[in-house]
Amino acid sequence: MRVQYPLVLSLLSVAQSAPTAETKADFSQLFSEAATSKIWDTARNSLDQLPDRFPDNVPSTGADTGQYIFSAISAWTSGFFPGSLYTLLERNIKYPSHFNLPNNTPDDTYAQLLSLARSWADPLHAQAFRTNTHDMGFLIQPALRKDWELTGNQSSLDAVITAAHSLASRYDARVNAIRSWDSLKNKRHSISDQNTNFLVIVDSMCNLDLLFYAGHHTGNQTLIDIATTHAHTVRRDIVRKDYSTFHCCNIDPATDAIKFQETVQGYKDWSTWSRGQAWGILGYTQTYQWTKDPSFLETARGLADYFVKRLAAARHTHPYVPLWDFDAPSVGGVVPPRDTSAAMVAANGLLLLHQALQGNSPYYDQALRIVGQVMDLSLADPSVGWESILMNATINNNEYSNTPSNNTGLVYADYYYLQFGNLLLQMGYV
Ligand SMILES: *[C@@H]1O[C@H](CO)[C@@H](O)[C@H](O)[C@H]1NC(C)=O
Ligand SMILES: *[C@@H]1O[C@H](CO)[C@@H](O)[C@H](O)[C@H]1NC(C)=O
Ligand SMILES: *[C@@H]1O[C@H](CO)[C@@H](O)[C@H](O)[C@H]1NC(C)=O
Ligand SMILES: *[C@@H]1O[C@H](CO)[C@@H](O)[C@H](O)[C@H]1NC(C)=O
Repeated sequence: MRVQYPLVLSLLSVAQSAPTAETKADFSQLFSEAATSKIWDTARNSLDQLPDRFPDNVPSTGADTGQYIFSAISAWTSGFFPGSLYTLLERNIKYPSHFNLPNNTPDDTYAQLLSLARSWADPLHAQAFRTNTHDMGFLIQPALRKDWELTGNQSSLDAVITAAHSLASRYDARVNAIRSWDSLKNKRHSISDQNTNFLVIVDSMCNLDLLFYAGHHTGNQTLIDIATTHAHTVRRDIVRKDYSTFHCCNIDPATDAIKFQETVQGYKDWSTWSRGQAWGILGYTQTYQWTKDPSFLETARGLADYFVKRLAAARHTHPYVPLWDFDAPSVGGVVPPRDTSAAMVAANGLLLLHQALQGNSPYYDQALRIVGQVMDLSLADPSVGWESILMNATINNNEYSNTPSNNTGLVYADYYYLQFGNLLLQMGYV
């Protein structure tokens, strides 16, 4: 295998041979004190933002450079920061030798971490009843499912089940799908009539795990069927023949006819928004794991192969850190902004896909190559006080966006970075 980066080479060799000093150093970046203490410090220093505001993104320009911007709890991103705390709690409980805090790790780390995690998770419980968003998986699972699984807290399980039924309420049997967005408003569209529009986005694939989990936990087949049917519809209406993806599809609920297939956060309607493709890889892999339907495995593999093919074809430095959109052009020789959140979501998907294929696949090496290059390019220097672990993510760089934003830290890039570490530990690769 052709390897361009020493970092990646050393990461790859870890799985196959005893770690050298160099490979240990590389993995320690994934489990570093710097990473842990960023989450820990933000959690402790920002308690005054609760219960209404949650870390969202870290701008690289302007007065707030390097500092977290907080969003309202209603934002789809609110679950991720609490989720990062629970990912660290899981590490502290199950893999303590990979849990590091600087110098003075307190004796009661577990108690302090649980207390911080609970403080940040508490306000999420009320979100479980919302039926005006499809983002219930993102809002509820990262913190509250882990709270249930790690601590046995019944009220957190109740929130997970409630959230699944809230999400299921958005299913419409006429279009065989869950409504993703109630409305779409930017410089191009002002869509709000739900009788004539039914918006489905590729991101929705990552909210299905919640339905499968709750459906299996409670024995409710309806939840499972809704998730499965939705995944088939996204496969038909959003995944293209070559396994690239549209972002958003608008369906006429009366006739089930497609009104448009477009992008909202990517470059062009015909292009492939890298984070959308990454949500697809992760979502279809999870959907295959729950259903064992080979069509979902085929989709997950197709999406993964397309993602990696675009990375491998790139001619700029760190080609495995995806551009925010695979088709975004360089202007005046300047490489377009990257999206490390797309990288980390895809890396988690690839690792799960490797697991689904019983370790017999190229996806483990590809995931490590992506993460190795992300660490090399985008780990924020701890000495400059940048509050997120990673830089170089892009929220939305679309020309019609009312709030375009590129090259920031993003709370979900960090969450999937930490999750990737736990997944490696859980799968026995570290
Ligand atoms: C369960 O979680 C809720 C909300 O975070 C918290 O208020 C409660 O104390 C927890 N219950 C137990 C038994 O730990
Ligand atoms: C299963 O879930 C569906 C969708 O939320 C709900 O309508 C139904 O009442 C549930 N069935 C049972 C037996 O709880
Ligand atoms: C990553 O972000 C940093 C901080 O804004 C910036 O200096 C650097 O140019 C970015 N790198 C890339 C490849 O976009
Ligand atoms: C990045 O975002 C800023 C602010 O929206 C915008 O002015 C700039 O053109 C964007 N950069 C690129 C390369 O798209």
